[in-house]
Amino acid sequence: MKILSIESSCDETAVAVVDDGRYILSSIVASQIEKHKIYGGVVPEIASRCHIEVISDITKKALDDSGCGLKDIDAIAVTYAPGLIGSLLVGVNFAKGLAIANNLPLIPVHHLRGHIAANYISYPELMPPFLCLIVSGGHSHIVEVKEYTKLKVVGQTRDDAAGEAFDKVARVMGIMYPGGANLDKLADQGDEKAYMLPRPFVKESEYDFSFSGLKTAVINQIHKAKQKGKNINVKDMSASFRAAVVDCLMNNFIKAAKNLGYNKLALAGGVAANKLLRLRLSGECKKRNWHAYIPNMSLCGDNAAMIGAQAYYEYKCGNVATMDLNAYATLSIDSLT
Ligand code: KG4
Ligand code: ZN
Repeated sequence: MKILSIESSCDETAVAVVDDGRYILSSIVASQIEKHKIYGGVVPEIASRCHIEVISDITKKALDDSGCGLKDIDAIAVTYAPGLIGSLLVGVNFAKGLAIANNLPLIPVHHLRGHIAANYISYPELMPPFLCLIVSGGHSHIVEVKEYTKLKVVGQTRDDAAGEAFDKVARVMGIMYPGGANLDKLADQGDEKAYMLPRPFVKESEYDFSFSGLKTAVINQIHKAKQKGKNINVKDMSASFRAAVVDCLMNNFIKAAKNLGYNKLALAGGVAANKLLRLRLSGECKKRNWHAYIPNMSLCGDNAAMIGAQAYYEYKCGNVATMDLNAYATLSIDSLT
């Protein structure tokens, strides 16, 4: 089954053609980074306008690259939640138009379910059940993937998402946008023991995360150094901060796997591109003879191939949208359309 999938939830306009949920026939990602760089973050209205400008051309290119015409496509899939509402509406409306004009089913896909499904492309043998750590710019979740479309959130952040914490700390250290990936590169050249940072945890809920205190600890150390007329060493602070975030994520993830009885552990989301996080998950799983699933770098950030992968399983479960499908800025991963 060939699905043409569309992703426009944030600042990437992406279209892909995916076969049977596992094989990429084409995948185009048009990033808007250059447009938002001067503002130091994504500007929602600019993002929506950029999506509307490029979505038709990107779709044509994805079809051309796949060697398919619309007549070969069996369904249209689209991210309908969560994300920037204006951005989502562009993708949803465009997908509706394609579905109506070509008399094709329209499959609504939750963005975070899509991130999980990136693993189905990188590991064609992977099947639920498994435990997944989703770490993106807006979310940090530990999710039980019981079945392809049956998921249960067992832990989540109480404040900042992991990616958001990376971006905010990068910004206060003057690291260029997009902060997370650049901070990760600088951390490779720093000493993670140079600065003492806390490993915050949430007392009442052992799998939840809290990153805002960690972010404040970095800001305080920067201020203290300034008061003494000094500057912090950006590479060392990047390494120390990255180590603290990865410790917090891995502690809860491994604890949840042990307690809930999972030996298949997957990573998902933009922060899954983090070098230390990837290394730590492989190491922790190897030690215990567990299986680690870590998506290819190109599938960690937002893309439409992951949406096409999840769409295949949504369709098989009968999740097809009617033409009144709406977009939602927030929506739990375990709710249906
Ligand atoms: O999944 P994603 O592309 O978009 C959302 O759905 O939010 O995630 C983007 C987030 C950003 O916060 C970005 O800074 C972070 O992922 N990120 C990283 C790395 N690459 C991207 N964070 C840490 N290390 C990286 N290498
Ligand atoms: Zn994402």
